[in-house]
Amino acid sequence: MNLRVVAMPGSEPCGGLLAERLGAARCGLESRRFPDGEIYLRLLDEVQGLNVAVVAQLRDPDPQLPGLLFVADALRELGASSVGLVAPYLPYMRQDTRFHAGEALTSRSFAKLVSNAFTWLVTMDPHLHRVASLDAIYDLRAVVVQSAESIAAWVRTEVMHPHIVGPDEESEQWVSDVAARAGCPFSVLRKHRSGDRSVELTLPNLDALRGRTPVLVDDIISSGQTMATTVRELVAMGFAAPICVGVHPVFVGAALAVLQAAGAARVVSCNTLQHPTNAIDVTIPLAEAVRTLATDLGRSP
Ligand code: R5P
Repeated sequence: MNLRVVAMPGSEPCGGLLAERLGAARCGLESRRFPDGEIYLRLLDEVQGLNVAVVAQLRDPDPQLPGLLFVADALRELGASSVGLVAPYLPYMRQDTRFHAGEALTSRSFAKLVSNAFTWLVTMDPHLHRVASLDAIYDLRAVVVQSAESIAAWVRTEVMHPHIVGPDEESEQWVSDVAARAGCPFSVLRKHRSGDRSVELTLPNLDALRGRTPVLVDDIISSGQTMATTVRELVAMGFAAPICVGVHPVFVGAALAVLQAAGAARVVSCNTLQHPTNAIDVTIPLAEAVRTLATDLGRSP
């Protein structure tokens, strides 16, 4: 295949797994910091005329962004025929509107930077809320891979009598799909966020949950407050201890401990970001999307 995989620093295990699944060769990347903190980067293999997939797991994206843009630029200058970004977790999707006058629309600004640097993008379940699709803000070929089948397969094998619960209305897009594939019911709660770490919930009638195991599914677990508040409410109502499933395990600070202390029976995640909770491997569908795209690029004149 006319494809090479470059892993950004810290994303080597994910890059290696994707390259293996794709049967594609890796392009080495040397990286270090100069004494003043600036980054040194060197691509160690030939990329002339090749499609190159740059794999980056973008938890804590700010320190990683300059290096990512520099690598993309270097690949273009070195003659790669296309430079794609494989970011299983796409950051900066939540500030998608100006909640207060003067705020930076960082989802759009981030999208502009990535679109200028890359020709294509493969990601998983980006946080699309007020923005309907990536095409509304990204100006490149974007392919979105869904985690629903991978999560549903895990639920089918691991959970007896599951009932999928979405902590807020935005999560309905994921939980309805997961529930349909896992062959079980689902409910969606309503969330009001009054601060970065402060969440209140409104619960619908949850009689259907009696006698079942609640499986909370959300796209991002960041501070863990959304999941922890949901767990506490369900436990207080006498339901079985919930299992928490996150697509993107951002897990800031003590988020995992907060969730465990709230009473979660298990906390698992997809491996879009490396984390001890990783239990659901999504590199197969991600590699499939990259393969389809690379094959298609290979056909283009
Ligand atoms: C936002 O609406 C997302 O879908 C998640 O519910 C949210 O990002 C979770 O954040 P946290 O873990 O900080 O409550």
